[in-house]
This record gives sequence, C-alpha cells and structure tokens, in this order.
Amino acid sequence: MTLRAVVAGVGHYLPERIVPNSEFEKSLDTSDEWIKSRSGIERRHFAAEGENTSDMATKAALHALTNAGLNADDIDAIVLATSTADLTFPSAATMVQSKLGMTKGFAFDVQAVCAGFVFALTNANALIVSGQAKRVLVIGSETFSRIMDWSDRSTCVLFGDGAGALILEAQEGTGDNTDRGILSTDLNSDGRYRDILYVDGGVSERSTGYLRMQGKEVFRHAVEKLAQTTQTTLDAAGVTAEDIDWVVPHQANIRIINGISKKMGVPIERVVITVQDHGNTSAASIPLAMSVASQQGKLKQGDLVATEAIGGGLAWGSAVLRW
Ligand code: UT7
Repeated sequence: MTLRAVVAGVGHYLPERIVPNSEFEKSLDTSDEWIKSRSGIERRHFAAEGENTSDMATKAALHALTNAGLNADDIDAIVLATSTADLTFPSAATMVQSKLGMTKGFAFDVQAVCAGFVFALTNANALIVSGQAKRVLVIGSETFSRIMDWSDRSTCVLFGDGAGALILEAQEGTGDNTDRGILSTDLNSDGRYRDILYVDGGVSERSTGYLRMQGKEVFRHAVEKLAQTTQTTLDAAGVTAEDIDWVVPHQANIRIINGISKKMGVPIERVVITVQDHGNTSAASIPLAMSVASQQGKLKQGDLVATEAIGGGLAWGSAVLRW
C-alpha cells in the first residue's frame, strides 16, 4: 500500500471588480487589441480597497471545503502560496487559519512567485505521504494589483487578483499510476535570472516596490523550461503526453500556453485556459483554473492532469496527478 495525496475538493474566489482591457486605454499608450493579441488577456479582477490576500484565500478555502463536504476542523495543515501576503508577518496562512476558526494543526506560506502553487502542492504532498498530515488545504492567493506600476504599460496590463484552493487528502493507493492523487512532482530554480522578473522593493529595502519584468526573456525561458519539467514529471509517473486528459498550465500568456501545447504534442482542446478572464494571477492562477474547469465539468474523477508554472527566481516546476 502507498499513501497518496488525493484531491478531495477545489474552490476559488475572484474579487467583484472586473477591469476590461479598454480601461487601460484611458491612461496608457496601449490598446485592447495589443493586450489581447500579445497575451490573450481580455479582462482581470482587482481586489477592493481593504480586501487582502488572506481574505480572498479564506473565501477560496471555504468554497473548497463546501465542495469536499468537509469543515475546517477536518484540516490538519494549510500551505498558502503567495508573494503578496497581507503583512510581512505573520504568514497569510495563519491568518486564514484563524479566519476559518481552526484552532489546531499548522499553517505556513510558500513563496515561489508564479510557480508558488506547484511548490505548495509538492510540500503538501510530502506532508501527506510522510504521514505528518491527513488533510491539507493548499491555497494560491495574490493581490498583484498592489505591486503594479500603473505607468508601466509592459507589466500593469498583464496581472490580476484572485485565489484558488485544493484540499488534498491521504488515501491508500496501490503505488502504480492508476492511483488517484499526486503521482509525481518536479521543482527547479535558478537565481542567476533574478533580474528578468522581480519586485524592486522589500522589507530589507524598507519599501514595497513594483514588479519589473523583461517579458521577452521570461517568455523565452518559459516555453523551454515548462515543456522540460512537464516531460520530467510525465516520465516519473510512467505516462506519456498522449495519456493526459487535461493540462492546467500557469495562466500568464496564451502564446506560452500554445507554445507548450505544441512542443508537448497535447492538443489545445485538452488545455484549461482562463487567462482571458483572469489575467496572470501568479500563484493563484493554477488552482483558480482547476476550480473553474471543475465547475465546467472538465476535470472529472480519474482524469490524468499535468500542471506546470514558472515565475520570478526563476523558479519553475510541474506535477502530474490523477484527479
Ligand atoms: O507569470 C510569470 C511569467 N511571466 C510571463 O510568462 C510573461 C512572459 N512574457 C510575455 O508574456 C510577453 O513577453 C509580454 C506579453 C510581456 C510582451 O509581449 P512581447 O511580444 O514579448 O512584446 P515586447 O515586450 O517585445 O514588446 C513589443 C512592443 C514594444 O515596442 P517596440 O520596442 O517594439 O516599439 C513595447 O514597448 O510592444 C510595446 N508594448 C506595448 N504596446 C502597447 C509593451 N507593452 C505594451 C502595451 N501596449 N501594454
């Protein structure tokens, strides 16, 4: 018998305010046509004043708990991926813990920028297979609108706010790739690329800072590294691209998503795409896409799912799981 971390529930939350591309035409030298054709983004949600990362994360978590038919007392741990926590400390995860009314277990944040959810998922999987937790709430939640330079058209039109959550539950499997649950994971980072995607402020710098990106450079790394890491997890799980029912990629740019689909030989019809509606929500993008796809009836129990992401660091990784 092998312990597996199986998806028991999924949920998401999007802030009420929807901002279409045309809104940026009022203050910047940009157009709906440029944003759509270069990124695939048509609109994004922005958090309201006073609505913070832990608020959105809590709403996504409650949605996932309802979806799983569980309550907060059933959860042993919260792993929250974010680069935009409410405060420097305590972690956003512990804020979610208290907002859910949890008085036991443990909670912590993971910071791997846009790859954060894959890093959080891998950590949660390790907690479950090592027997340290039976049920883990894995959340991605971001308020990237708070680190946008609204005068920089090359970045501020690309990002959005939101949150998504998965509940992973320990279940006995047979140990082969017909098991439900996480079958393989792969994490990577290379700090030599810190200058192509970063925030020019932080606690040690005594500022908040703004996101800075050399988009073309990140794009180049993204297609190559994401195809590579996904092949690594497919091989480790003993499956091929043909076996995949759904790819749920990080939602940064439709051209990156198309490029990887082509490189891997997975038809685009089997790729979950939400970038048009959410923009790039960093660590929230994958669980948000999973939740939306599940609501649309796309992700069904037993489906083989590959997920991958890359972001600042650079940090990138992937996971293969049976839903
Ligand atoms: O989630 C973390 C990972 N992040 C990513 O994966 C992002 C990866 N990069 C990208 O998605 C793309 O590189 C972008 C969408 C950011 C940019 O697309 P691009 O095709 O690489 O365009 P570019 O940066 O080469 O810019 C082309 C032109 C430039 O003008 P010139 O130099 O050719 O005259 C830019 O100044 O487009 C200009 N431009 C804009 N024009 C209108 C840049 N931003 C805008 C804008 N509106 N918003």
